[in-house]
Amino acid sequence: PVEIREVLENYKDYLGQDLVLEGWVKTSRDSKNFGFIQLSDGSGFAGIQVVYESDIENFKEIAKYPIYSSIRVEGELVESPGAKQPIEIHAKKITPEHLAESDYPLQKKRHTFEYLRTKAHLRPRTNTFQAVFRVRSLIAFAVHEFFQKRRFVYVHAPIITASDAEGAGEMFQVTTLDLNNPPKGDDNKVDFSQDFFGKHTNLTVSGQLQGEAFATAFRNIYTFGPTFRAENSNTQRHAAEFWMIEPEMAFADLEDNMNVAEDMLKYIIRYVFEHAPQEMEFFNSFIDKGLIDRLQNVVNSEFVRITYTEAIDILQKSGHEFKYPVSWGIDLQTEHERYITEEVYKKPVFIVDYPKEIKAFYMRENEDKKTVAAMDLLVPGIGEIIGGSQREERMDVLVEKLKDFGLDEESYSWYMDLRRYGSVVHSGYGLGFERAVMYITGMKNIRDVIPFPRTVGNAEF
Ligand code: 4AD
Ligand code: MG
Repeated sequence: PVEIREVLENYKDYLGQDLVLEGWVKTSRDSKNFGFIQLSDGSGFAGIQVVYESDIENFKEIAKYPIYSSIRVEGELVESPGAKQPIEIHAKKITPEHLAESDYPLQKKRHTFEYLRTKAHLRPRTNTFQAVFRVRSLIAFAVHEFFQKRRFVYVHAPIITASDAEGAGEMFQVTTLDLNNPPKGDDNKVDFSQDFFGKHTNLTVSGQLQGEAFATAFRNIYTFGPTFRAENSNTQRHAAEFWMIEPEMAFADLEDNMNVAEDMLKYIIRYVFEHAPQEMEFFNSFIDKGLIDRLQNVVNSEFVRITYTEAIDILQKSGHEFKYPVSWGIDLQTEHERYITEEVYKKPVFIVDYPKEIKAFYMRENEDKKTVAAMDLLVPGIGEIIGGSQREERMDVLVEKLKDFGLDEESYSWYMDLRRYGSVVHSGYGLGFERAVMYITGMKNIRDVIPFPRTVGNAEF
């Protein structure tokens, strides 16, 4: 047997030959004297058309094979008279491997994405999710290729951790204690010193702090792994379990950081265009009209770079009525981010130098002492896709910051060592992997780009 992808890609080599193919019946129709099966083995995007005539053994039974039966087809590869595909298989023998039960939940008609979420174990068999998850896989590879070509070292940051990298307290706790009957300390609070690790632990919200440790050893590193946030926000772009890519670079300032982020995003878009042209055509036709042109422009243009203060000014002078009122010091809301990228610039925009109160403790304080060297990359249709910063490398300033944020110096002492011994200017960022997949595929809901999504109130499969 040969994979259908191989036949589709190199069909000229196979024309006139007898082939054996294996796959599933995607669609089936027949008339008195012949029938058609669209056969897919998942290896090639569209699958291949199989034609059989009434002289084939079991003609009547074949026509009744239920959708998603697995079958084996022997036949000759010929040029197709139809315009859809250049080739088809003229079957000589068709045998079932397993006849599906006839109530297959995904019949031919189009299902809503909402319905398909309840069938997350079957939806990867549909055209849309074939395209989404193949592109997701390609983007992951493109990310690795981008950083590996630049000799960045790939670091596996821990999943279970005792530190809150973002200081935002949105963590899932990890414990082996019996919570119905937990050990209590003198103060009658749960005594986590008796827990598995001898302390209170969480699932990581970011690998950044450990990434910084490796950047001060290897200069350039990146992490790429799962991260977890117990944010109670039920939106189209938040998941409780998502993947993040976090490069960290020693001897790099905020501008270097933005340059790498911009190059990376362009690199992965180009990579997907090159390696998944059919999938991109599919998204462009059925998911998001104009997607290809828009992404092509992104690859060929320079991203905008403005300060937070400028962004506030633009929003205030826009005359637009925002639900959440705009004033210097607010955390930008999705409506603000989208206005700037979709109405003002119509392309990706870096916003830098945010007020220090609304950003994490580790970001480097600017000369004005009011803002920090933060950068967010906002894109049309989504809003924030990347968050990053130059890190505070000055010991004394960092100690003050920990105090201001009410964080316990003791538990960050290893992090302070990086400032004690050979401290350097360094920077990094986090790309939300799913948001990148949404951006490149045009899919609108994060639940539809994660194989088995975990969101508030939902951990099925
Ligand atoms: O802006 P965030 O919180 O930044 C950090 O975690 C830094 N430690 C990154 C760094 O500098 N190394 O998150 C980074 C990105 C966001 O821009 C967003 O794309 C994504 O992670 N993200 C989420 N994606 C899906 N669901 C969620 N709940 C997300 N929270 C953040
Ligand atoms: Mg952020």
